[in-house]
Amino acid sequence: MANEQKVIFTNDICSALSDLSKEIHHDRLFMLFDTETMKHCMPLLTTFMNDYDAAHPASHLHTIVIEATDVAKNIESLTEVWTSLSDNGATRHSLLINVGGGMITDLGGFAAATFKRGIKFINVATSLLGAVDAAVGGKTGINLGNLKNEIGAFAPADAVLISTKFFESLDKENLLSGYAEMLKHGLLSNCQHFNDLLEFDITSLNEEGKAEEKAAALLPLLETSVNVKRSVVRQDPFEQGLRKALNLGHTFGHAFETWCMRHGQPVLHGYAVAWGLVCELIMSNQLTGFGSETLYRVANYVRDNYGPINITCDDYEELYQLMLHDKKNLGDTINFTLMKSIGNVELNHTASKEEIGSVLDIFRDLMGI
Ligand code: GLY
Repeated sequence: MANEQKVIFTNDICSALSDLSKEIHHDRLFMLFDTETMKHCMPLLTTFMNDYDAAHPASHLHTIVIEATDVAKNIESLTEVWTSLSDNGATRHSLLINVGGGMITDLGGFAAATFKRGIKFINVATSLLGAVDAAVGGKTGINLGNLKNEIGAFAPADAVLISTKFFESLDKENLLSGYAEMLKHGLLSNCQHFNDLLEFDITSLNEEGKAEEKAAALLPLLETSVNVKRSVVRQDPFEQGLRKALNLGHTFGHAFETWCMRHGQPVLHGYAVAWGLVCELIMSNQLTGFGSETLYRVANYVRDNYGPINITCDDYEELYQLMLHDKKNLGDTINFTLMKSIGNVELNHTASKEEIGSVLDIFRDLMGI
């Protein structure tokens, strides 16, 4: 990843896409949607799509639509995209625009990275979670059976377009899910950004009459947040060291996410990350001296906005086993990203089963479980 990834923050989506499509030379243009983004997001792009077709009468843009949901992030959908590209005349010089959340940008990015050994692509992030995480940083891939992101490649998009206009149709749960990754970036950056995040009311973004004003206010916060990730990725694009900072909250978080799924109470990724952040800050408080006051602020915020997860001490063994199988581990130890203070990360910590149990005890206390 030699070049800095271009990320455009704008609410003037069609002109930004039009400029990008002129800047990134290509012979044919393809746009990938899922059934949901086709319905809710494509209408915001029609000016661009109509203008493009009018300007390129000999090579109309081709639209590919695949099924929505993470379950469709598989080899069958990938084959659909490759086949559609191939059947409709895509060459090494074609351009693919992925319009969607993490599922579409991961799968579409991988399709582009592998079709004819790689074509150019643009990610248009349509969910808050996708904008703040998946669309940026070059990780692409698909699931293999139950194994998430098991197959993939580091392949940064030629450009990423981020607009809060798409989020006006997101429900409160999806907004909070994306916001958990922003809180993670806040913890990794500095007190000012972190405080700004705790003060911003993300849940009012979809309230009648407030959407436009709040979406505009979110854009600069989102830009700062995405730039935290970009700065980490710039220093360690292939996750050899520093990029593990972005796993903060995810060791406990992935275990919670799988536990909820197995116990018939699936949750959005960001909810599990929010609970994971609290647990990993408790562990940081115990092992690396992270301040209690900030820990309590985060715990209260998570309790009030995300609510509790329904675990008891009988679930600790299962959660521990799930953490042991986390693919970030080396050998038989569980790898944690911890914090010394806001902006001061400590990589590659391990903890014993007893220490993890004691973190879960305190977590349940703080969440009022
Ligand atoms: N989602 C974390 C990363 O991109 O490294």
